[in-house]
Amino acid sequence: MKKKIFWGIGLLLLIIQFFHPPRNKSTTAQPNDIGISMLTPDNVNVVLRKACYDCHSNNTNYPWYARLQPVDWWLNHHIEEGKDELNFSEFGTYKLKRKIKKFNEIAREVTDGEMPLNSYTWIHKDAILTQEESNILINWANLMAQKLTQDSLRLAAE
Ligand code: HEC
Repeated sequence: MKKKIFWGIGLLLLIIQFFHPPRNKSTTAQPNDIGISMLTPDNVNVVLRKACYDCHSNNTNYPWYARLQPVDWWLNHHIEEGKDELNFSEFGTYKLKRKIKKFNEIAREVTDGEMPLNSYTWIHKDAILTQEESNILINWANLMAQKLTQDSLRLAAE
C-alpha cells in the first residue's frame, strides 16, 4: 500500500513537469510603463525594476527553478495576483483616481515592509530594500499621490 502511494506521487510529480502556465514575457514596447508615462526619477526606476517588476509588470525574470513544478504554478499565482493589483507596465492606462490609490498603497506597503513579499526576498537577497531605497520609494509615491490629488482637484474645479 505504502509503496503504491509512493510511486503514485512520484508519477504525478513527473507528469506535472510537462504542464506550465504561459510565461509572463512581453516582447513589445510598453508605452504605458510607469517609467515612461509618469514622472519617475532614475533612482526610483532602479528600485522598482529590481524589487517589484518580477510580479508587477509584463516581464518577469524567471529563476532556474521556475522550470520545476509545482514551483512554477506557485510563482505564477503570485505574478497573476500581483499584476491584478498593480501592473507597472500598464500604469499609464489607469484612471487618475486609481493612480492616486496605487501611489498611496505603494507608500503604505513599503513603509510597513509588506512589499516586496518575504517569500521573494528570501531568495532574491538583492531585492531586500535598504532604508535608503525604501525612503526613495516612499517619498516618491507620496509626492506623486499629492501631485495627482492636486490635479484631480483642479480638474474638478474647472
Ligand atoms: C513575489 C512577488 C511580488 C513582489 C516582488 C512584489 N509584490 Fe507587490 N504584490 C504581490 C502580490 C501577490 C500582491 C497581492 C496580494 C497582496 O496584497 O499581498 C501584491 C500587492 C501589492 C500592492 C497592493 C496592496 C494592497 O493594498 O492591496 C502594492 C501597492 C504592491 N504590491 C507594491 C509592491 C512594490 C512597491 C513592490 C516592490 C518594492 C512589490 N509590490 C513587490 C506580489 C509581489
